[in-house]
Amino acid sequence: MPPRIPQPISRLSNTLSTSTVSLSSNFVAIPAAFSKVSRRSISAYGYEQAKALTFSKHGEPAEVLGLHGHSISPAHGNSLTLRFLASPINPADINQIQGVYPTKPTFTTSLGTPEPIAVGGNEGVAEVQTRGKDVRGLEKGDWVLMRAPGFGTWRTHAQTDTSNLLKVEDKSGLTPIQVGTVSVNPCTAYRMLKDFVNVREGEWFIQNGANSGVGRAAIQLGKLWGYKSINIVRDRPEGTEILRRELEDLGANVVVTDTELQEKGFGDKVKEWTNGGREKVRLGLNCVGGKIVNAMAKILSPQAHLVTYGAMSKQPVQLPTGLLIFKNITFDGFWVSKWSEQNPDEKKRTVDHVLNLTRQGKFKDVPVEEVLWDYNTKQDSLISAVQGTLEGFRKGKNVFVFGDT
Ligand SMILES: NC(=O)c1ccc[n+]([C@@H]2O[C@H](COP(=O)([O-])OP(=O)(O)OC[C@H]3O[C@@H](n4cnc5c(N)ncnc54)[C@H](OP(=O)(O)O)[C@@H]3O)[C@@H](O)[C@H]2O)c1
Repeated sequence: MPPRIPQPISRLSNTLSTSTVSLSSNFVAIPAAFSKVSRRSISAYGYEQAKALTFSKHGEPAEVLGLHGHSISPAHGNSLTLRFLASPINPADINQIQGVYPTKPTFTTSLGTPEPIAVGGNEGVAEVQTRGKDVRGLEKGDWVLMRAPGFGTWRTHAQTDTSNLLKVEDKSGLTPIQVGTVSVNPCTAYRMLKDFVNVREGEWFIQNGANSGVGRAAIQLGKLWGYKSINIVRDRPEGTEILRRELEDLGANVVVTDTELQEKGFGDKVKEWTNGGREKVRLGLNCVGGKIVNAMAKILSPQAHLVTYGAMSKQPVQLPTGLLIFKNITFDGFWVSKWSEQNPDEKKRTVDHVLNLTRQGKFKDVPVEEVLWDYNTKQDSLISAVQGTLEGFRKGKNVFVFGDT
């Protein structure tokens, strides 16, 4: 067998992130290759030169973010030095920088600035680079997720202790992007499908934002559990049919645009799809808000639940009183951060379950636009990737993929 040539992480992840379907057993050795990545040597006396996207005050990302360099001392005692592999840019990260998200980032002077700064980003996967002698349960090369939001994941390296980390028990056959995007969106979809109402096999749920990370996860998990789905996407200048087919390929039963949802006669179509209404629509998932929620709620079956978990349109949800009185629809909210804090063991099980499905090729990756972050990557390209997340009709989620850092 020819010797394995270590490749930069960026090239490996380009190859691997396209689809989990290609994750055959040939790929099982990949994570080992990541740990052999050729990279800058650590500076004199073992100090690591780290970079982070940080902010000292709230505002629009393009105005307040900056790339901050600092050094990290060698890990000692209970501390570990982490090297990040992949960190997504999620809508909540932007809201957090804007100062309109309930979870506040940690502002600190420990990164060597006179004024406190916070590191952006809440989700990601890192590998243990070095560990102090008192660290238990984590070894060099292990992959870890952040236990709670607010850690700051848009950074090349970090030093912390095990209390902030969740070990990825089995990273075999998985890419950094798959692991780095599992803990927020798939977990949210998973819990909303399971925890609010007992949807039985052959019954339906309806969701808006169906092409979002959460929406795509809900389609796939729902399909695996035998649930049928009505999926609403925004009408777009072009590409609606391609998107419709993409979601159908993931397992969506029906994909409609927000315009189609509000057309006269939509209720009759739902009756056709649901066998004259005999198959119940037990659950609605809303991350958009505004008028379409009203239209969605109208087609829910009596006693159904409508769970709101996002507000992409920034419009309020208005509830028709008749649905409360005569159909007894329950309107709920879900926030994965709070749920994870209250259910740490269940969170770990949920993550492990989704990663297993991914490994088996049963759960496909969300489409991503990889944003390569090397040691010499310029601040502007990193910040414009963050700002770009605010635009709609994107092809995929922007994810920082760390190369030669
Ligand atoms: N509560 C929780 O625990 C929780 C957890 C995870 C995510 N979320 C929320 O779920 C939502 C989706 O997150 P994600 O990471 O899955 O998203 P994502 O993959 O980044 O996709 C963004 C989605 O938002 C839609 N969108 C963008 N601008 C919009 C607008 N002005 N009006 C209506 N839709 C718009 C996009 O549709 P187009 O393609 O048509 O632009 C796309 O479907 C966000 O609101 C996020 O904050 C909540």
